[in-house]
Amino acid sequence: MPSDLSALTLSATAQTTVAAVLSAMAQPFSGPTETKRGEFFGKKGSFTAVAALMSEVVPAERKAFGQWLNQVKTEIETKLADLDQQTAGQKTESAWIDWTIPGILPAVGHLHPVSHAIESVTRIFEKVGFTRVRYPEVDWDWYAFESLNMPKNHPARDEWETFFVETPASSKKGKVVLTPHTSNGQVREMERLKSKPPIRMINIARCYRRQQDATHTQMFHQFEGLVVDKGITIQHLKGTLDYFAESFYGPGTKSRIRPFHFQFTEPSFEVDFSCHVCGGTGQVADSESDTGKRKCRFCKSGWHEVGGAGMVHPNVLKAGGIDSEVYTGFAFGWGVERTYTLKPGLQIDDIRLFYSGEPAFLRQF
Ligand code: PHE
Repeated sequence: MPSDLSALTLSATAQTTVAAVLSAMAQPFSGPTETKRGEFFGKKGSFTAVAALMSEVVPAERKAFGQWLNQVKTEIETKLADLDQQTAGQKTESAWIDWTIPGILPAVGHLHPVSHAIESVTRIFEKVGFTRVRYPEVDWDWYAFESLNMPKNHPARDEWETFFVETPASSKKGKVVLTPHTSNGQVREMERLKSKPPIRMINIARCYRRQQDATHTQMFHQFEGLVVDKGITIQHLKGTLDYFAESFYGPGTKSRIRPFHFQFTEPSFEVDFSCHVCGGTGQVADSESDTGKRKCRFCKSGWHEVGGAGMVHPNVLKAGGIDSEVYTGFAFGWGVERTYTLKPGLQIDDIRLFYSGEPAFLRQF
């Protein structure tokens, strides 16, 4: 029950208005809830009228009047909610439902394909003892280049079409960049582990480069593997790549490494995975051609290039405080979007679609 107002100095008309709302509240609540709500809170509602009295109430009594108004309002709301429940009950009891009509499936959302790919990459590597980490996506030049054996003005830097952030440079770590690759995590991970191997890192993060076309977006994702321990060799790298190829693309997928150059690995490789359409042969059956075969249109050569890898350069280990006479390691890194578009059954010829926000595109996954 709302508190008593008799201590307040209300005019006679004000008292009538108050009496009106109290008597309306005392009536049983029935009929449609919205009609009832209108009787109180509509333009001419009895609560609306009583709330308008506030301007007449003397300032010293406004607080008490305000509290009373709140109590009244809560009580009306409670009664309206009860009424609503009653009428809802009546509706389901009396409404006629045809249970044979096919239902309408509720729309169910799902992860964005890139998030999904990140999840599966994480799971595949966690299974064999890698730890998923994330490092800054806006980082110092030191981590993105210099500690990776790319001194200032080194021409190899040109390959990473870097965005620089206009902010004061650090005297030790240089300029600030939007990370053009996830390799900035290599020395950061060595530092996190206080330069004490074993290291088994999988770093997945956003990267940025000044490139935009059907196979590049200015923002994209990479995943970077780093393993450092005693006696790590190229065989461990190759075994890890084969394991990933089969886990991500399905049994029978092979990996291939070809000589390449990166400043931060020696030797360095480009990594290819066999094409699932032609099984790595580069040819598919074609009844119309003379030879009974034609070139595979998906890969053209039997293989898809996905990214880079190599044995960690001694200078990089040194930058991370690790003795390269005792420890060796391998690293690999490539694009999440690119890796994902090569999955069997997907036909994505423009990776910009991932970031188009186009529902028709996203619904297919
Ligand atoms: N960071 C390289 C790139 O973006 C890939 C790479 C990672 C190569 C690790 C070797 C070792 O192209």
